[in-house]
Amino acid sequence: MLYKTTKEHEAFRKKVRAFAEEKVKPIAFQLDQNNEFPDEIVKEMGELGIMGIPYEEKYNGAGLDAISYAIAVEELSRVDGGVGVILSAHTSLGTWPIAAFGTEKQKQKYLTKLCTGEYIGAFGLTEENAGSDAGGTETTAVLQGDHYILNGKKIFITNAPKADTYVVFAVTSPGIGTHGISAFIVERGWEGFSFSDHYDKLGIRSSSTAELHFSNVKIPKENLLGKEGQGFKIAMATLDGGRIGIASQALGIAQGAYESALDYAKQREQFGLPIAHLQANTFKLADMATQLRAARLMVYSAADLKTHHESYSMEAAMAKQYASDMALKVTNDALQLYGGSGYIKGIDVERFYRDAKITTIYEGTNEIMRVVVGAHTVGKAPKVQYQKGKSKGPIAGNRKKEIFKEGSLEDQVNALVEALKKDGYDFTVGIDKDTPISEAERVVSAGRGIGDKENMKLIEDLAYQAGAAVGSSRPVAETLKYVPLNRYVGMSGQTFKGNLYIAVGISGAGQHLKGIKDAATIVAINNDENAAIFKNCDYGIVGDALEVLPLLIEALDNGEEKKPAPPMVKMKRSKPRKMAPTSDLYVCQGCGYEYDPKQGDEEGGIEPGTSFKKLPDEWICPKCGEDKESFVKVDFPDDRKL
Ligand code: CAA
Repeated sequence: MLYKTTKEHEAFRKKVRAFAEEKVKPIAFQLDQNNEFPDEIVKEMGELGIMGIPYEEKYNGAGLDAISYAIAVEELSRVDGGVGVILSAHTSLGTWPIAAFGTEKQKQKYLTKLCTGEYIGAFGLTEENAGSDAGGTETTAVLQGDHYILNGKKIFITNAPKADTYVVFAVTSPGIGTHGISAFIVERGWEGFSFSDHYDKLGIRSSSTAELHFSNVKIPKENLLGKEGQGFKIAMATLDGGRIGIASQALGIAQGAYESALDYAKQREQFGLPIAHLQANTFKLADMATQLRAARLMVYSAADLKTHHESYSMEAAMAKQYASDMALKVTNDALQLYGGSGYIKGIDVERFYRDAKITTIYEGTNEIMRVVVGAHTVGKAPKVQYQKGKSKGPIAGNRKKEIFKEGSLEDQVNALVEALKKDGYDFTVGIDKDTPISEAERVVSAGRGIGDKENMKLIEDLAYQAGAAVGSSRPVAETLKYVPLNRYVGMSGQTFKGNLYIAVGISGAGQHLKGIKDAATIVAINNDENAAIFKNCDYGIVGDALEVLPLLIEALDNGEEKKPAPPMVKMKRSKPRKMAPTSDLYVCQGCGYEYDPKQGDEEGGIEPGTSFKKLPDEWICPKCGEDKESFVKVDFPDDRKL
C-alpha cells in the first residue's frame, strides 16, 4: 500500500493542473452561469491525452494507472466540478465497460476512439422507476432477427446529449430480475434515439445531463456488450470504478474550496489580524486539511487496489461516501470563512458549494454506499419478496387510453369531441385563459411539439374553444419562455387538479405526469405514438399538432361566445372499461389477481391468448409469486360472458 504518490504521478498532476488553471479556470464561472458544455475544452482534453488514461496503449489509451486517472479528475474538479465529471463519466462509465467486457471488434470500433476523445462516452442505467434500485430497469430490448429493438427511457444521464456512444441497460428476459438485464453499446444518431433538453441543475452546470429516449431503436446484435443477462453485473462492476471517479471529483472540489478559503483567510483582516489566525478559523482550516488528507488516502488506495486487480468494491464505496460527505462539509466551511462575500455569484466557493452536493447523490447515493459497505461487513440483507422490474403502471394512473385511429383526422377529432361531450363536458362555457392552473377546471397545455412561438396562438384558440386556461410543459415555460413560469404544469411547477387536461405536443416526462395525475380526463395530441403521454391518457390522437388543432378548434366552436363557467364540480375519473371474460376466470388466492388469457403475462413470457390451462406448471402469479396451483376457478354467470 502506498502512502505517497510517485514522482510520475506528481509530474502528471502538474500537467493536468497547468491545463486546468490555464484553460478551464478562466471560463469556469461563465460555463456555470450559462449552463454551457465546454466543447473546446473537451477536445483539448483529448489532445492532452487524458481521455483514455487507464486504458491500454494499443487502443490509444495512455496506459497509466487508476491513481493517475483519479488525479486527473481531482485536478479538473479543483477548478470546475462539471469538467471533472465529464472526464469521470466518459472514462469510468462510458468507456470502462467496453474495455472490460467488449469483444476485440467492439474495442477496435469504439474504445480506440473513446481513448483519443474523438468519441465521448456515457452510461444509461437510471430510469424513473430504477434509481437506487437499479435492478428495476424497465427499458426493454427484444431480439428480432439480427437486431435488438430498444424501447424505453433513461434519465439523469451525464454527458448526454454530447456523447457519441452510450452503454445502455435493458431487459432482454423479463420476469427474472437482475439476471434478465443486458448491456448494449448504442450510438447517437441511430433512428428512434432522441434526447430531452439538458437539465438546468443546481451545480456542475458545465456538464451536460439529459434524458435518453428510445423508440424502436434497432441495435445490431454485435453491439450486445458481454452476454445476454450479464448487464446488471456489468453495471455494478462499472459503478465500482465510477465511484472512484466521483470520490476524486469530490476531493478536487473540496481541495479547490479549501485553497480559495485559505488564501482569503490569510488576506482578510478583522480585529487587527488575518482571520486565518483567529483560532476558530485556524481550527476550521486545520480540520479541512486533515479531512482532505484522509479522503485523498482513501481515494488513492481504492484506485491502487483497482490497478492491482484486487477487490475494491467496498473501498471504492467507502471512498466515495467519505470524500463526498467531506466535500459538503469543506465547501460549507470554506464559504463560511468567506462570510458574506462567499454568498455572491462569481466567488468560486459559491460554485464549489453548489457543485459538491451532487457527489453524495450520483453513482449511488451515500445511503447505497453504506448498503454496499454493509454487504461486505455485516453481510447482505435477506431478499425481500417482491417482483423486481415489475412495472408500477402509468404515472397518471390506469386510464382509458382510447386512441382515435379510425377514418380521417377530421373523423378522429369528431370522435374525440363526441367522447368528451358524452363524458359531460359542456363546451358552451369557459374560463379565463389566465386562471391559475391549480384552480382551473380545464387546461390546454403546450409542449415542445408545438414548435415555433407563433403556434401558441393555436393553443390559445383551442383553450378558448375548450373553455380552458393555458398551460405548458416545463421546457416551454422555462427554456423557450413562451409562457410565464407560473403556467407550467408538473410536480415541480403547478399541479392540475381540475377535470379536463389537453396535452398538445407533450411527450409526458415523469414530473409532468405527476402534476396531472388527479385530472378527471387527460387528452393527448402528439405525433409520436410511443410518447409516454399516450400510456397516461383517456383519449388521444396521434398526429401533428398543427394539423389536429385547427380541426379541433373548429369542432368545438359553436359559433357563440363562451358563457362564464359555473363553479367547478369535480368529475369522477372514468376507469378503463373492464370487459367480462369470454372464458373461465382464474383468481390467485394469495392476492386476488385475475389471470386474463387475452393479455397473457408479458413479464412471465406468456403470449396473449394463452388459456389458463395452457400455462406452464412453473408459471407463478405476476403479482405475488404464488404458484399456479394456488389459483382457483371462479364460476362466471353465462350472461356476463361476452
Ligand atoms: N460487481 C459485480 N457484480 C455485482 C456487484 C458488483 N459490485 N454487486 C452486485 N453484483 C451482482 C451480485 O453478485 C448479484 O449476482 P447473483 O444474483 O448472480 O448473485 C447481482 O449482481 C444482484 O446483486 P444484489 O442482489 O446485491 O442487487 P440489488 O438489486 O440488491 O442491488 C445495489 C444492489 C447495491 C443496491 C445496486 O442496485 C446499486 O448499486 N444501486 C445504485 C445504483 C447506482 O449507483 N446508480 C447510479 C447511476 S449512474 C450515475 O449516477 C451516473 C452519473 O450521472 C455520473
